[in-house]
Amino acid sequence: MALLKSSKIISTVGAQNAVLGVFTIRASSWWTEVKMGPPDPILGVSEAFKRDTNPKKMNLGVGAYRDDKGKPYVLSCVRKAEAQIAAKKMDKEYLGIVGLGDFNKACAELAFGSDSEVLKSGRSVTVQTISGTGSLRIGANFLSRFHTSVRDVYLPKPSWGNHTPIFRDAGMELKAYRYYDPSTCGFDFKGALDDISKIPEKSVILLHACAHNPTGVDPKPEQWKEMAAVMKKRNLLVFFDMAYQGFASGDIDRDAWAVRHFIEQGHNVVLSQSFAKNMGLYGERVGGFTVVCKDAEEAKRVESQLKILIRPIYSNPPMNGARIAATILNTPELYKEWLGEVDGMASRIIKMREQLEANLKKEGSSHNWQHVIDQIGMFCFTGLKPEQVERLTKEFSIYMTKDGRISMAGVTSGNVGYLAQGIHTVTK
Ligand SMILES: Cc1ncc(COP(=O)(O)O)c(C=O)c1O
Repeated sequence: MALLKSSKIISTVGAQNAVLGVFTIRASSWWTEVKMGPPDPILGVSEAFKRDTNPKKMNLGVGAYRDDKGKPYVLSCVRKAEAQIAAKKMDKEYLGIVGLGDFNKACAELAFGSDSEVLKSGRSVTVQTISGTGSLRIGANFLSRFHTSVRDVYLPKPSWGNHTPIFRDAGMELKAYRYYDPSTCGFDFKGALDDISKIPEKSVILLHACAHNPTGVDPKPEQWKEMAAVMKKRNLLVFFDMAYQGFASGDIDRDAWAVRHFIEQGHNVVLSQSFAKNMGLYGERVGGFTVVCKDAEEAKRVESQLKILIRPIYSNPPMNGARIAATILNTPELYKEWLGEVDGMASRIIKMREQLEANLKKEGSSHNWQHVIDQIGMFCFTGLKPEQVERLTKEFSIYMTKDGRISMAGVTSGNVGYLAQGIHTVTK
């Protein structure tokens, strides 16, 4: 008995040891063919940052808001909503497959406006999702299953790095349209319009509703209007990704302008929303996916299929973040406080843009850094080349993605001078 215990007979797949007369474990593997994958380009930057011991180090890779002391920021309205929820001592039963009804309704209202014709006529369906990424993936899976006549999804060039694997893993084909003009660090309107006007009918086109990531370059309302008209003419299925509502201008209605305009022009869009940035609910993973339909009957059919799609993936979404967001959106005082806090975050970022440009001038940089101010949202596409980014990291411990994108949310009054000094040194 003692011998049996000590020889750990836990596997029936083993070789018999002739002396002891027992089985020993043979190391075997199912995964010899699995190759080492590259680290995630954004999260890999954070790993390298953590290892750096320079006290002046800056992490401008990851897109998470920091206060002016460089610390993660929990919104006061979120703390209050959490307290209200805790006081109610609610149960922790499963949510339904589509999530929390109060949240879904408020989520769609935030996007479309409370007097929206789409909401009044009941011709849309919104499901709670696992933040923006989960929303995009549910959307991509839905397209893959039901938009079968054309598989192509057109992304702006460049786009958020995760868009490609999300749509590709869902079985869609990726294509691109011109968006960013490196010569002006601005929007390539002519190039975009030119490419869009040649996209085959019924293709899917992905649009960043505001605060384009990674470039910080958004079309102006007049440009959106022309784009909406061309897309209508081409009969394209418009997929809006709205991960930053309120974060671009500080005004949630202004940032939703493009989505609302497209709907007014008769586009039955699909829409991804995230509350990671505008409510600072990053780790709570709360978002929404909406399909605008022809009528309420179509919306019911679409909802039934979304349920069938979601059920075998994660069954139903987590409740905590949705409760927080719903409490804020549905409680007038908290909602008002939230609008002020979103504006506060956006304004701090805008101020940092101005200070970075001013400090670059002060350093004596002869380059034109106007785009730092003109771009909008969390990110600034600096125009720095990969070798300049490498020098900034090596010589200044300033971390960012290789494409020269910096998260303005990580810049503070305390470190903006150091950042300007670093950028000036590597761009002289
Ligand atoms: C353009 C864009 N879409 C979607 C997301 C999704 O974010 P999350 O899954 O954290 O809501 C992000 C996050 O960085 C983003 O930049």
